[in-house]
Amino acid sequence: MLVYAVTGLLALAVTFVPLSQALRLPYTVILAALGLMLGAAAMSLAPDGAGPLSGWLKGATSLSISSEVILFLFLPVLVFEAAMSLDVRRLLNEMGAVLLLAIIGLLLSTFIVGFVVSEFSGVGLMTCLLLGAICSATDPVAVVGVFKDVGAPKRLATMVEGESLFNDATALVLFSILSGLMIAGDALDLGQAALTFFRVFLGGILVGLVIAALFSALIDRIKNSPLVNHALSIALAYFSFVLAEHYLHVSGVMAVVTAGLFFNALSDRILSLKEIHALHEGWEQLGFWANSIIFVVMGIVIAGFVSTIDGAQLSTLMVLFIAAMIARAIIVFGLLGAFERLRLLRPASTAYKAVMTWGGLRGAVSLALALIVLENAAFQPEVQQFIVQLVSLFVLSTLFINATTISTLIRWLGLDRLSPVDEILRSRARDLVRGTVREECPHAPSLSDDRLAPTEPPTVAEEASFALGLSILLTSERRLYKALLDQGTIEGHVYGRLSHFVEDRLDLLRHDGAQRISETLINEVAFGSEFRNAVWLHRRFGWSSVLENRLGLRFEMLSAKKWALERVIGEAESLLGVSMGEALQRPVIELTKQRLELVSQNLAALRAQFPAYCAAISRRMEQLDRVNQMVSRLEQVSHSGALSETVALKLNAELERERQKMLRMPPLDLPLDTMTLIGQVSMFQGLDEHQSEALAAVMSLRFCLPGETVMTEGETGQWMYFIASGALQVALPEQSVLLGSGDFFGEMALINDEPRTATVTALGFCELLGLDRRAFDSVLGDFPEIKALVLETASHRSLA
Ligand code: CMP
Repeated sequence: MLVYAVTGLLALAVTFVPLSQALRLPYTVILAALGLMLGAAAMSLAPDGAGPLSGWLKGATSLSISSEVILFLFLPVLVFEAAMSLDVRRLLNEMGAVLLLAIIGLLLSTFIVGFVVSEFSGVGLMTCLLLGAICSATDPVAVVGVFKDVGAPKRLATMVEGESLFNDATALVLFSILSGLMIAGDALDLGQAALTFFRVFLGGILVGLVIAALFSALIDRIKNSPLVNHALSIALAYFSFVLAEHYLHVSGVMAVVTAGLFFNALSDRILSLKEIHALHEGWEQLGFWANSIIFVVMGIVIAGFVSTIDGAQLSTLMVLFIAAMIARAIIVFGLLGAFERLRLLRPASTAYKAVMTWGGLRGAVSLALALIVLENAAFQPEVQQFIVQLVSLFVLSTLFINATTISTLIRWLGLDRLSPVDEILRSRARDLVRGTVREECPHAPSLSDDRLAPTEPPTVAEEASFALGLSILLTSERRLYKALLDQGTIEGHVYGRLSHFVEDRLDLLRHDGAQRISETLINEVAFGSEFRNAVWLHRRFGWSSVLENRLGLRFEMLSAKKWALERVIGEAESLLGVSMGEALQRPVIELTKQRLELVSQNLAALRAQFPAYCAAISRRMEQLDRVNQMVSRLEQVSHSGALSETVALKLNAELERERQKMLRMPPLDLPLDTMTLIGQVSMFQGLDEHQSEALAAVMSLRFCLPGETVMTEGETGQWMYFIASGALQVALPEQSVLLGSGDFFGEMALINDEPRTATVTALGFCELLGLDRRAFDSVLGDFPEIKALVLETASHRSLA
C-alpha cells in the first residue's frame, strides 16, 4: 500500500511540471500547493470505498512522514545531489563568503529571530531561539533557478547554493545543541556550545572526507559501468550520513556535503567524461524524485497543522516573517557588505543582494526539525504546538509569498534586461543560427519567423564595443578549449579551470564593464594560493608530489592557452569584423596579444627550468591524444556494426587501461636532495664528500616561485642563501643587480647585524640553499675559504 501511495504521488507530482513552467512558478511551490489541497481534501471528505482511486487517496494522505524519514532517507539524497551539481572550484573561491553566511549569518539570524519573537509573543527565549534556528536554514532551489534564468554572475549562484548546503548543517547542529539544553533545563553556556558546535561540524567534515576517499578509491578500482558508479555513489551518500550522525554523533549533513563535494572534485580525475555525465544524470533523476515527493508530502503534513490556526498565531507568524526577512537583509547587506568594504569579498550589486534576501526560502530541513520537536515527548506540548505550527506556516509563507513574487522583483530591479553587450551577442547568435540553418538545410522553407529574422545589431559606444570585442574573443577561446577537451588533449579538470577563467571574465565584463578586465586578464599567469600552498608543503615537509602536480597543471594550462590564443588572434579580424571597424578592433586584439605574450613567456620559463619534465609532459599529452583518438575511432567502427560488441568492449577496456597508465604525471626533475644541490654550487665544488655532508646537515632547501620576494629592504635578516638554480634580482636604490646559480645573498645583514640593504626577488623558479644565523656562524668557523669569499664579497657590495 505504501509503495502504491508513494509511486502514485510521484506520478501525480511530475504531471505538474508543465503547469509550473506555464505559470512560471517554482515547481516546489506548485507541489506544496498540491500537497495542501490533498491534505485538506482528505480531512474534509473521508474517502470510502475500496476502489483503486480512493484506496490511493487514503494511502497518500495518511502518509505520516517522520523526521527520521526526512533526515535519513531524503536529506542525504538532496544534499549529495546538490553537492554533486555544484562547481567545487568556484565554491572554494567563494568559501570565505559561504562560511560567513552559513555559520555567522545563521547564528545571527537565529538570535535576531529568537529575541524578536520572544519579545513579541512572550514565549520563553530558549523556545524562540530554537524556532529561530529552525527557520534560518535556507533552501536554494528557487533562487538558483531564478539566477540561472537571468544570467546572474555565476559566483553569486554558487554562493547562494553553497550557503544553503552548509547552513543546513549549521542549523541542525545548533538545533541539537539548543534542544539538548532545553530538555535538560540547562542555561546556555556560550563557550561550551561553541566547542560542541565546532567538534560536531569539523567531525562531520572529517568523516565525509575519509569515507569519500575510501569510496573514490573503490570506484577508481572497480570502474565497471555507470550503473555501478551510481550505486556506489548512492551508498557513499547514505553511508557517510549514517556513520556520522548515528554512530559517531557528529554532523551527518556536513559529512554528506563534504563527501559530495570531495567526490565531485575527484570525479573528473577517476572517471571519464561520459561516466561523469551518466553519474550526474542519475543523481539529477534521484534528486528530482526526492524533491517531488518531499514537497507534496510536506504540503499534506502541513495541512494537518495549519487547520487549527488562530489570530494570535497569525500575528506571531507575521512578526516571525518580518524578523526573518530583516535578519536576512542584515546578513546579506550588512555582513557581506562589511566584508566587501574590507576587500575580503568581491562586491555584488544591491539588486542581487535584494534577490538573495527575498529569495531565502525554507524547505524540508525546517520541517524535519519541527517534526523532531513534535516527536520528542520531552518537549512540553505547548512548545511542540508553537514550533510546529509556526514553522509550517513560515515554510508556506516563504513558498507562497517569496517564491511566487521573486520573478516580479527581478523584473522590477531590471535584472532580466540584457546589457548592451549581451544584446549584441544575442543578435549575433541569432544571425549565426539563421546562417547555419540555411547552410545545413538548403531546401528548408525560408524562415520568416520573427524570432529568426535578420536583426540590425544595436550600435554601441566605444567602451561597450571594447567589452563586446573581448566577449567575442573570449567565447571563441572557450570553444577552442572545448575542442581540446573533446579530442582528449586535455582532461576534464584542466578544461574546468580554463573554462572557468573565461566564464569569470565574461561575468566581469557583463556586470562590471570593461575597465577592470584588462588587469585581470594580465593577472592570469600569476601563481594562486594553491600553488603557494604546494610550495609551502614542499618547503615545510619536503612533500613534492603536490608541487609536481601543480607544475604539471600549469604546464598543461599554459600550453592549452598558447594554442588557443594563437588561433583566436589568427581569426580575430574575421570574428570581430561583423560588429566593429578596424579602429575599434585594435585595442581588443592588442590585449589578446599581450596575453599570448605573457603566456608564452611563462611557458618558456617553465621549460627552461624543468626541461626534462616539460618534455615528458609534452610526450604524455601526445600519447594521450593518440589513445583518445583510437578510442573515438573504435567507437565509430563499432557503431557502424563492423565489430562485435564483445570485441569492441575488450578493445575499449585495453585502451582505457593504457590511458590510465598515461594519466600518471611524470616525476619532476627537481633535484630535491641537498647534496645534489650543493654539488651544483661552484664555490662548494672543491669540498670533499665529508665536508659536503657536514654542509648539507646544516643547510635547508627553499623553492621559490617567479616573482616571489625572498627578502625585503629594511627588515631584520635571519637567513642567507646560496643559489643552486634560477635567477634573482637585487633591487638597489640606483640600479638592480642580477644573481644566478652559484651566487649568494643575504649575508650582509648577518655579518654586520644591520637591516637588509636591498630587496631580493626571484625572477624564475629558484632553488636556494639557506643558512640560518647559527648555521651561518658555524659554517664560517669550519670553512675558512668560504668565510673569506663571503666576507670579501660583502665588503665589495657595501662599497657598491
Ligand atoms: P642583505 O643586506 O642581508 O640583504 C640584501 C642582500 O642583497 C644583501 O645582503 C646582499 O646579499 C645583496 N646585495 C646588496 N648589495 C648588492 C650589490 N651591490 N650586488 C649584489 N648583491 C647585493
